[in-house]
Amino acid sequence: MILSMKIFADTGNLKDIQAIADLGILDGVTTNPSLLAKEPGDFEDNLKKICEIVKGPVSGEVTATDYKGMLDQGRRIAKLHQYMVVKVPLTKDGIKACKTLSGEGTKVNVTLCFSPAQALLAAKAGATYISPFVGRLDDISINGMEMVREIVTIYRNYHFKTEVLVASARHPMHVVEAAKMGADIVTAPPKVIEMLYNHPLTNIGLENFLKDWEKAQAVKA
Ligand code: E4P
Repeated sequence: MILSMKIFADTGNLKDIQAIADLGILDGVTTNPSLLAKEPGDFEDNLKKICEIVKGPVSGEVTATDYKGMLDQGRRIAKLHQYMVVKVPLTKDGIKACKTLSGEGTKVNVTLCFSPAQALLAAKAGATYISPFVGRLDDISINGMEMVREIVTIYRNYHFKTEVLVASARHPMHVVEAAKMGADIVTAPPKVIEMLYNHPLTNIGLENFLKDWEKAQAVKA
């Protein structure tokens, strides 16, 4: 049974991760080669530091595209820290690598998923997480959240343990829709996580409360 939708930060930036962790709502982190390439320092050291901050699942992606290469890199990534999750792309070799790595007890996040059929294969290969990319589907005029709805239905039908990790989230509605569908996790960039709590009516309301309070204090003085 899902108790609460988890929120992951989709970034490799240590400062941003620390700030979100300080809010007390961070359950994990996802990275990819593009995100880690933006950060200074050694990527393996950075992943270890992220694990120390988050104390929860942190995905690090292989860059090899062949089965053997994915296994070599995946095993190395898994050894970096107890919280590391190995991310492999949803290709033929990726599915095979997922099966092998999962069989060894490594947590695998199968990424770059763009269809329910792909998600079905990842679950059968023992993936811990499947990452359907909603924003990138929306970008080509295909409803990304519909794909998530279908994946959630398929996984529920067969009680697959693979968690649905909604990725490529671009705005708060992706997060809200994912929660309504019962997705397990959403990973979002720091700016989208910030949008979740920022609301103009909250700011205006607070400003008015404080003005009224100050006025009343001035009258009493
Ligand atoms: C998921 O793990 C990916 O890192 C990410 O969500 C990709 O998002 P983008 O489409 O915004 O690059």
